[in-house]
Amino acid sequence: MLQRIPSPPVDHLISGHTKSLTQLKRHKHEQECIAATGKRVYRLRVFGRHRVVIADPTLLQEFFAAEREGAVEKPDEQPFPLGHGKPEYNVFSEKTSSPMWKLVRKGTASAFQAVNMRQFHNHVVDVVNRLVEGIKAKGSSAVVNFADIGQRESFDVIGNVGFGKDFRASRDIDDTTSNTFALLTNFLHEVTLRSNNPMRKYWRSKEVIAAEAEAQKLQVLLEELVQDCQKRSPEAAGDKSIAGHLMRLRDAKGQPLSFKRMVQEFFIFFLAGSETTGHTIAWTLYFLAKNPKAMAKLEAELDEAGLLVTPSNPTPRAFSFSDIGKLHYLDHVIKESMRLQPVAASPLARVAKRDLHLSDGTVIPAGVMVEAAQYTPMRDERWGWHRGNEFLPERWEEPDMEYHVRGAATGVPKSGAQSGEEDLEIDAQVVSEHKVRRFNPFGQGLRNCLGQQLARMNVPTAIAMFVSNFKLELTPEDANKSIEELEILKGTLQPSTGIHMICTPRTCIEE
Ligand code: HEM
Repeated sequence: MLQRIPSPPVDHLISGHTKSLTQLKRHKHEQECIAATGKRVYRLRVFGRHRVVIADPTLLQEFFAAEREGAVEKPDEQPFPLGHGKPEYNVFSEKTSSPMWKLVRKGTASAFQAVNMRQFHNHVVDVVNRLVEGIKAKGSSAVVNFADIGQRESFDVIGNVGFGKDFRASRDIDDTTSNTFALLTNFLHEVTLRSNNPMRKYWRSKEVIAAEAEAQKLQVLLEELVQDCQKRSPEAAGDKSIAGHLMRLRDAKGQPLSFKRMVQEFFIFFLAGSETTGHTIAWTLYFLAKNPKAMAKLEAELDEAGLLVTPSNPTPRAFSFSDIGKLHYLDHVIKESMRLQPVAASPLARVAKRDLHLSDGTVIPAGVMVEAAQYTPMRDERWGWHRGNEFLPERWEEPDMEYHVRGAATGVPKSGAQSGEEDLEIDAQVVSEHKVRRFNPFGQGLRNCLGQQLARMNVPTAIAMFVSNFKLELTPEDANKSIEELEILKGTLQPSTGIHMICTPRTCIEE
């Protein structure tokens, strides 16, 4: 059965596609495999083990429907133990069929309810304000690395919102000594390499040993954080933080999470909550700076809402939670950035629990690892993404852009629309009601992103506040680099050498 699924040429007879998978451009490999096989379902081999990649939104929808029926599981892989001893699971790595996954998923979901997001919004505004002041203190036309600023922002947000802890990453933007987030990033890099190459854990190279030492430091930091939270006794119902929710969990026997499990849960919320959001902020600002027409349109929207610093409005009102739902162009810009540079660009790994029969005739045998592609389905013209590789926020003016209508010409601009033009008109002629979701930056199915409401609150707030306060231009060096030169898939799709911008406080700009 498996042999009927096409496979692109291997890199090596014995290791199969391992080399391509360990390179830090996995998302581009997805495009190469589609080109080589002519199919959006293909097979890869890591030594003797096969995996099937699905990059077709219709088949992905079928696949995730099978997950709901219990026919699909998370792979049984503990990529990298934190600390010594047998590794513990967390909500991300735990099996979908496990009662513990259900307990933690259900028990923490309410931490992200809109009512809590509204309550925590002032923390986000405070963090961004601190960064804004830090950048302003550098003077007019300072060069700032927004990849770093994005990480500091999301790091302090998750620290505050998740654990009631101020890690001070946004307080001194030049301080690199308390680089806890660097620990997380290095750790994740090793996790990525190991999940792509199962043999790596047996190597004793300098790099692997150093990564294990970093993991130890991270372990200590997280243990202290759990102890701090326990001392504050956040079991009280009024504690709306993620930590508070985790502390209140009780299993079927009425037992709280073990200390070891708690450390793992803190780790995963910290990691999943900071890195992803920080890079999304950086990529969105990058696209805006690269597309002056889009930037001007966003500035106009912020100005109209009374949020932009201008000579006639030097101290605009503060950005509020309710602004998020009202600033439509801001929303379009963020969606378009997440479509082009989805930070979770690595395929999502699952295992078929029984033979899976897909509607194109593909049969995936039980036990085979399946990877749900994240990158190509959000760019591929085949799914109606017209000029899919271009940054065109206006495409989101059309309702239901998240969906591809099978057989219909969705998302096709009427003649004459140029890249970045404001009046991109969409001819959304619907010929069939069969809609397939093709925009899933937060994943799909039972294991979709648990913290997406926090990201949906944090990213627009940060983008709006940075743009309101600064005129942002890429440095000539970064402006001249292609996105391929700037990006790296290191766990998440992130800027490889930073996103450097010349920041001019708007208070310094004359009318
Ligand atoms: C722009 C920001 C973010 C993006 C693009 C993103 C993306 C994703 C994706 C694609 C998944 C699914 C993984 C899979 O199916 O295997 C996921 C899962 C997850 N995310 Fe996010 N995420 C973001 C922010 C956050 C935040 C802010 C938090 C929490 C504070 C968070 C916590 C989680 C957790 C705990 C899971 C695992 C859920 C489970 O397996 O049940 N994420 N995320």
